[in-house]
Amino acid sequence: MKVTSYRRHLPLLAAYAALASACGGSGLEGDATRGKDVYAQCAGCHQLQQNSAGPMHCGVVGRAAGTAPNYPYSEAMKESGLVWDERTLDEFLTSPFAYLNGTKMGFAGLPSAADRADVIAYLREAGRDPAVCPQS
Ligand code: HEC
Repeated sequence: MKVTSYRRHLPLLAAYAALASACGGSGLEGDATRGKDVYAQCAGCHQLQQNSAGPMHCGVVGRAAGTAPNYPYSEAMKESGLVWDERTLDEFLTSPFAYLNGTKMGFAGLPSAADRADVIAYLREAGRDPAVCPQS
């Protein structure tokens, strides 16, 4: 019985270890090119340049949460006081509901730390590229 419950927690422990080493500055830099593929999981609801089911993503890295113009955010998002950076995005994308109770982002999350780092790198690079995100 003990063994079973321990085994159940192994993936979580692995995720924490990956996160801890990322925070420890071991240089886990996301790969924006790979992140573009991961972004396919977001693209059903999000676009870079305009709001759709979800808010536009151009400029999201560095932006205060809940502030894309003309997007009807949940109260939870508007009042979160969050600013999106590598850390807050990583935590939110791990499990949106667990991180921000009341969010209306209907997405279970990205369990892989590498996928999160890559998609965050993609969002950051897109926001810096005037050809992709002219307004940010
Ligand atoms: C099923 C639709 C859906 C999917 C899939 C989805 N999102 Fe969202 N996302 C939303 C909605 C809706 C919101 C607005 C949430 C709110 O107001 O609480 C949101 C909000 C966000 C925000 C906050 C933006 C802001 O302006 O504050 C970020 C960041 C985000 N999503 C990133 C992602 C990423 C990255 C993915 C893919 C890994 C993804 N989302 C997948 C629907 C989705």
